[in-house]
Amino acid sequence: MNGYRFCFREEAGVQKPAYSPASAVILKLVERINVVGAGLIGLGSAWRLAQKGAEVTVFDARDAGCEASWTAAGMLAPGGEFFEPSELATLGMRSLAMYPDFVRELEEDSGVTIDYSRSGAIEVAYSDAEAAALETRAAAQKLCGIPSEACKHDSRPARFFPEDAHVDPRDLTRALRVACQRRGVNLLENEPITKISADGRVWTANGVNAGSVTLVAAGAWSSALLTDLPGPRPEVIPVRGHLISWPLRAGLLGPILRHGSTYMVQRRSGVLLAGTTREYVGFDRTLDETALAEIQARAEELLPLLAGQAPTERWNGFRPFVEGELPWISQLGRSCVWAAYGHYRNGILLAPETIQRVAGYLLA
Ligand code: GLY
Repeated sequence: MNGYRFCFREEAGVQKPAYSPASAVILKLVERINVVGAGLIGLGSAWRLAQKGAEVTVFDARDAGCEASWTAAGMLAPGGEFFEPSELATLGMRSLAMYPDFVRELEEDSGVTIDYSRSGAIEVAYSDAEAAALETRAAAQKLCGIPSEACKHDSRPARFFPEDAHVDPRDLTRALRVACQRRGVNLLENEPITKISADGRVWTANGVNAGSVTLVAAGAWSSALLTDLPGPRPEVIPVRGHLISWPLRAGLLGPILRHGSTYMVQRRSGVLLAGTTREYVGFDRTLDETALAEIQARAEELLPLLAGQAPTERWNGFRPFVEGELPWISQLGRSCVWAAYGHYRNGILLAPETIQRVAGYLLA
C-alpha cells in the first residue's frame, strides 16, 4: 500500500487527491514523514523509514523513550502471555523470531550494545491444581508453536519455556536514538503536538510541520491525539503497572522466573527486576506503596533470597490497552495519518513486527 496514494484533502465536503501524479513521482524520491511518539515503536519506525530514504521528524511531548519503553521489563515471552492460538499469538511469535536480527542490525547501525538474552523462562506452580493448569495450558500453547517441558524449581513443579527471551528496552531506545541520529532523523523532544490534520501536517507551539504522511505511535496517549481525524479507531486506555529492582550479583537468575502475574528478569549488569500490577487509575504516576509491597512479597515468595532486601528502584508506567488486545496499525480513514498503538502488555515483543509493517504500509 502506498502512503500518499491514499492521501486526500477534505475541502468543503469534497475529497480530492492531495498530490498530482507528477508531485507523487517527486515525493516517491523523498517522502517526508512525521512520527508522533518517540518510544520504541515510534523511534523504531523512524529508523526503518529513514533507512529506506524517507525524511523523518519525530516529536515527543517528553524525552524520547521515557514512558512505556522505559517502564517495561522487556520480556519477550510468549510462554507467559499467549495461552491459545490467536492473531496476537501469531504476531508475537513472528516478532520473537525477528528479534536476533533486529538486535544485531540495531547494534551495528548504532554502535550501542543491547542486553538481549534468549534465556528461556521457568513458570512455577505452587499447588497440584496450578501444576495441572500449567500442563493443560502447555498443550494449548504447543498449538501456537510455543514449546515447553516439565521441570522442577526449588522442588516445586514447573515448566521451562526454552524460547522465551528478554531484552533491556532502555538499551533499545538508547540505540535507536543514535541510529536515528546517524540516519538524519530530526528528533524534537519536549515538543507536544497540539493538532494533527488529515493532510498529514502536525502543529506544535513552535509552528506547523508539513509531511506527506504522519504516523501516531504515542502509546497510551494516542487516542487523544487522533480526536479530529476521520475513520474508526479503537480507544486506548492506560493500564498502570509497577515494577521494582535490586542490584544483585550478575548471573544469579538464568531464565526469567514467573508465577501467575509475578515475573522476574535479571539484566546482564546484575540488576534484577520484578513486576507487576494491572491498575486502572488513568495517568496517575503516584507510586502506590500497597502495590509495591505486594510485588515485593510475591517476589520474595518466588525467590526467597530477596527476603528482607529493600528494592533500590521502584517505578510505574502505562500500558496502552485496546479492546481485543490486538495492536492497531492502520490508516485513519482516507487521511494521510496512520497509527500504531494498543500493544498493551507486549509492546517490546511486538516492536520488530510492528516496525516492519509500518515501513511496508507507508513506503510500499
Ligand atoms: N509484559 C508484561 C506486562 O505488561 O506486565
